Amino acid sequence: MMKRMMMLTRTVVNRFTIVQSHSLRCHSQSRRQMSMGSESLVSRLKSCGLLQTKGLIGGKWVDAYDGRTIEVHNPANGQVIASVACMGDKETKDAISAAYDAFAPWSKLTAADRSNRLRNWYNLLIQHKEELGQLITLEQGKPIKEAIGEVGYGASFIEFFAEEAKRVYGDIIPATLSDRRLFVLKQPVGVVGVVTPWNFPLAMITRKVGPALACGCTVVIKPSEFTPLTALAAAELALQSGIPPGVLNVVMGDAPKIGNSLLESSQVRKITFTGSTAVGKKLMAGAAETVKKVSLELGGNAPCIVFDDADLEVALKGSLATKFRNSGQTCVCANRILVQEGIYEKFTSAFSNAVQDLKVGNGFSEGVVQGPLINEAAVQKVDSFVQDAISKGAKVLVGGKRHSLGFTFYEPTIIGDVKNEMLIARQEVFGPVAPVIRFKTEEEAIQIANDTNAGLAAYIFTNSMKRSWRVAEALEYGIVGVNEGLVSTEVAPFGGYKQSGLGREGSKYGLDEYLEIKYVCMGNMG
Ligand code: SIN
Repeated sequence: MMKRMMMLTRTVVNRFTIVQSHSLRCHSQSRRQMSMGSESLVSRLKSCGLLQTKGLIGGKWVDAYDGRTIEVHNPANGQVIASVACMGDKETKDAISAAYDAFAPWSKLTAADRSNRLRNWYNLLIQHKEELGQLITLEQGKPIKEAIGEVGYGASFIEFFAEEAKRVYGDIIPATLSDRRLFVLKQPVGVVGVVTPWNFPLAMITRKVGPALACGCTVVIKPSEFTPLTALAAAELALQSGIPPGVLNVVMGDAPKIGNSLLESSQVRKITFTGSTAVGKKLMAGAAETVKKVSLELGGNAPCIVFDDADLEVALKGSLATKFRNSGQTCVCANRILVQEGIYEKFTSAFSNAVQDLKVGNGFSEGVVQGPLINEAAVQKVDSFVQDAISKGAKVLVGGKRHSLGFTFYEPTIIGDVKNEMLIARQEVFGPVAPVIRFKTEEEAIQIANDTNAGLAAYIFTNSMKRSWRVAEALEYGIVGVNEGLVSTEVAPFGGYKQSGLGREGSKYGLDEYLEIKYVCMGNMG
């Protein structure tokens, strides 16, 4: 009880310290101004029109039809940031109808017209990157620098697909009969249901909506109920950018009801989802009834393999980046660090020193690089994985418990002597815990790395060019980082093998997911 009181006191003190040093401008903020208290920040975002709390249906901001709301919390201190509309099937059906009605006019615009509107949206996202970053830190918890980085990353998908909108080419096929002409047209699939997670409240939306809108599709977005505010702010900017009413709709609240409405509707022709493998499987099964297209970006279990011949500095930098980005809450975060026996002691000792220095705290505080986890359930899961590993003989090298800051903060952790059979190596920990597994040979590393149902991202650190190729080819993963821990970019295909998903996002390949191929055979042309 006493401990809990002390935690609360410390948080309140921090909050007031922060409040005193702020004054906000809507468009451009200095770094100092950004470490403001939540209340003044929220009221300023409201006055900018970027704190929306209603759903967006057919270009109108609407409350839940039964007036219900759902609270959005700041994971760093548990405070309520805002209450947003808690919507269900009725609102979702209306959003689908709005998207369906908007489809024909939107898809008939010229590609250049759609491209210009997407470009306007990109410009607005960048113009408001500080405020959007603040919203991300408020509702998701990641440090402000990382949050603003996410805005740049998220906006890059809109810019990239604004350009790609003009490059949806078809084909002419040499005919087998002389009086025939054969064409291939690519056409938008139609209304797309976009279901997104809380770990990247902006980027996971733009990575889907960018290509969808570029192709001429319209969308109904269901953001996570933990982080709807960034999605709503982005939707407000989409409206301002000239994307017509009904093209982009947002409903949030009752996830099963919204999900089922999207799945049951024959007007929704595609579901795109980023999130857990368990939910992805349910969506895939639900989409079968109306035979929708499905793109899934699901869980990973990324191996990060450090070979004896690796450059230690490069391996350390890369492992830190891939493990502790967003406090370990990304699908491409290293979930298992495999270290060859010759470099094991050196690597774990240097890694431990670096991880000890990672500053944990409220994402608005100076120097913080590790924010809170999203909620209590996430902390309990992380801790239960750590306890399981300890009970089976693994050793905590750094951290290993809840952080003294309380709430949902967890100590950046390294666990040594982990075996691939342990729970922590079988499932995605999705937190700031690095389990280290020792291996002897390259073959053994590949065998351990591939011994999982997941196949999203993998990382290798080696100075041997031959080994880089050999191992990259042998890994059953959709993304491989070689001497690099940060691999995500709008220009490269993102997606997994095996149960990590279906389809690819970003890059020129990302457009195909939103297109139908139509073959036109013209006879009597001789
Ligand atoms: C994810 O965690 O699903 C996305 C991570 C990324 O885009 O880098």
